[in-house]
Amino acid sequence: MQRLGRQWQRGGKTVVFVPTMGFLHRGHASLMERARKLAGHKGRVVVSVFVNPTQFGPNEDFSRYPRDLEGDQWLCRAAGVNVFFAPEDAEMYPADFSTFVQEERLAGGMEGVARPGHFRGVTTVVAKLFNAVLPTAAVFGAKDFQQASVIRRMTRDLNFPIRIVVAPTLREADGLAMSSRNKYLSPSQRDQATVLRRAILGAQEAVARRPAMAAQLRRETALLVAAQTEARLDYVEFFDPETLEPVRTVKRGTRMALAVFVGKTRLIDNDTL
Ligand code: PAJ
Repeated sequence: MQRLGRQWQRGGKTVVFVPTMGFLHRGHASLMERARKLAGHKGRVVVSVFVNPTQFGPNEDFSRYPRDLEGDQWLCRAAGVNVFFAPEDAEMYPADFSTFVQEERLAGGMEGVARPGHFRGVTTVVAKLFNAVLPTAAVFGAKDFQQASVIRRMTRDLNFPIRIVVAPTLREADGLAMSSRNKYLSPSQRDQATVLRRAILGAQEAVARRPAMAAQLRRETALLVAAQTEARLDYVEFFDPETLEPVRTVKRGTRMALAVFVGKTRLIDNDTL
């Protein structure tokens, strides 16, 4: 991969990279479309599929994370991707691997609290993938807003000469954000999973009228989630989209993010209010 990346770089090609963990869906496909627009027909689009063990906690779903390399390859071919890069665990992490990349400010809250070590795994693998692919630009989804912020900061702080582009969240017709993990949901859980989107729409409506206290919106979200028999609120946060610092007064432009367990499946969503 790196040899190819070098060749392209020397030839002045625009290379746009979409890192993923596979089990690809239309949300991923929309990132590939964006990548193609950025690359142009003369450029190159690279998609990686790697279920990165270092970003999963010991009690998380690494071993049962859904995998379908063949289906992923088909989707990428249909999307006009030039290179499908699916490295093996052992080539990414040799047995004596001992170097990690850690962003220390934006990675602290929300997912960083709920999933200790998660972003350290993400920044480490993305740095490694950047060094393998040597892209001009990389596309990330707003679905994982904090992740995109952490990666943008890492890219700047470590001087990766890579433009970070963030693309909008693709949703099912009922508003559920597309995710590889939606596959885990039973039919009744799938219905209840719309609560994440409904909570955001509720907050958007409240804030469109006048600013609101975060504590009040937090209570309303908790009530909404508690009304679902199979859902449990992990966190809900209202924050500045640049610094990710929590705010007390929520206004238009404040970002809202939440994580909800639906059964054993942990779902996340976020949007601007
Ligand atoms: P994964 O969850 O496979 O997501 C890959 C990319 O697709 C991420 O940038 C994510 O934000 C984006 N994405 C997921 N669902 C989306 C949706 N419904 N609409 C738009 N974009 C969506 O995120 C990861 O993998 C990993 O942490 C990774 C960055 C690859 C590092 O291992």
